[in-house]
Amino acid sequence: MQVEVFPSYEDLSEAAATTVLDQVARKPDSVLGLAVGTTPLLTYKKLGEAVTAGRADFSRVRVFSLDEYVALPPEHPWSFQRSLRRVLSLVVTPEQIRVPNGMAADLAIECARYNAAINEAGGIDLMLLGLGVNAHIGFNEPGPCFVPDTHVVELSEGTRQTYSRLFGRPEDMPCWAISMGIRDIMLAERILLLASGPRKAGAVAKTARGDITPYAPASILQVHRNVRVLTDHAASARLEGAR
Ligand code: F6R
Repeated sequence: MQVEVFPSYEDLSEAAATTVLDQVARKPDSVLGLAVGTTPLLTYKKLGEAVTAGRADFSRVRVFSLDEYVALPPEHPWSFQRSLRRVLSLVVTPEQIRVPNGMAADLAIECARYNAAINEAGGIDLMLLGLGVNAHIGFNEPGPCFVPDTHVVELSEGTRQTYSRLFGRPEDMPCWAISMGIRDIMLAERILLLASGPRKAGAVAKTARGDITPYAPASILQVHRNVRVLTDHAASARLEGAR
């Protein structure tokens, strides 16, 4: 696992965008697995600028969202469907984005369908992950075991608190989500994990230097053959001597 420390959020976002642009230049029909959340926002903005300036062509790219809330209508402003379409509006068309259907009558069938769609696409070429304060990736929350495939997950109290700031009333924040599983993530050809700011310092230390454990889900990335962790100074502050 390669940990790269950048002077600022701007710089790590630039590095992430450059990697995605290289990927798509090399393989125009790349399959990307993308996180929602705040950390990748500047990366997505930079991708939009590259496409608008004619420096990149994403017209054959397919995007799979890492996750989606359960029982939140896709038209809700903070559904991951809406969020991803919004932040990628200059990069890909809505038809190029696939998000799990958290409103499906049978969520188990939806999870299996989503997993099958990833496999039919040939798997993920490049996965761009954010990092939870509790070291979650996607919504693979800390717990006694790694869950391999796309699954329904109960969001932890901390995750709900973090994300509920977006919702008018905290009680509107969903309790459940659909998330790609750890095997889905680990089967990606390349992985970029982005972490910025002091709140992520503990999670970065556990991810890169801690024991590999489902209680710090991102720690499994230590055994992936092509993963880069892009951090800024604040997020990497606890790397030395961490264990
Ligand atoms: C969201 C996702 C989550 C976020 C993580 C960090 O699609 O998969 O794992 O990446 O919660 O969120 P931010 O970037 O908002 O700190």
